[in-house]
Amino acid sequence: APSAELARAESLILEIPDYPSEGILFRDITPLLADGPALRATVDALIAPFAGRFDVVAGLEARGFLLASAAAYTSGTGLMPIRKSGRLPRPAGTVGYALEYGTAEIEAHADFAPGSRVLLIDDVLATGGTLVAAHALMRELGYAVAGTAVLFEIDGLGGRAAIDDPALHTVFHS
Ligand code: PRP
Repeated sequence: APSAELARAESLILEIPDYPSEGILFRDITPLLADGPALRATVDALIAPFAGRFDVVAGLEARGFLLASAAAYTSGTGLMPIRKSGRLPRPAGTVGYALEYGTAEIEAHADFAPGSRVLLIDDVLATGGTLVAAHALMRELGYAVAGTAVLFEIDGLGGRAAIDDPALHTVFHS
């Protein structure tokens, strides 16, 4: 059953204390990625609420790529890599956002038709800063966000409120 497979998949996400810095509880999804049935059940659950309602899957560098590529392949859609700044060879949309220390930028090429319905995918939702910036980037590029799908939501950091997307879907949470 899908729910049993998902429960097993969730058990494969490891909690790593004090990584990458003191006080941070890091969620390591690599054991889940390593397990074929868990990976398939997880990607299926990530996109299920949005079936037939998106034209493109966009993944956030770097770990979001791993899930977004599988989601695009199984949906038969194209894939949009949303990259950290300075890594795209052609003119791109750019949005800046605040990090705990300093700022960052994300970018994407405008390779899709105006108004394309984009499903945003990432591995972890924490403060929501990354996905809020991704929403702004889609607006800048003239695309419509069909939904936001995240493998693991960390509760209590304000990410869900920050994103403010009624179509936010998370598979697992803390
Ligand atoms: C992590 C994670 C999300 C983001 C979540 O990415 O993969 O993209 O942080 O945090 P937020 O909700 O507070 O924005 P990271 O910047 O570590 O990039 P990586 O996947 O390249 O390691």
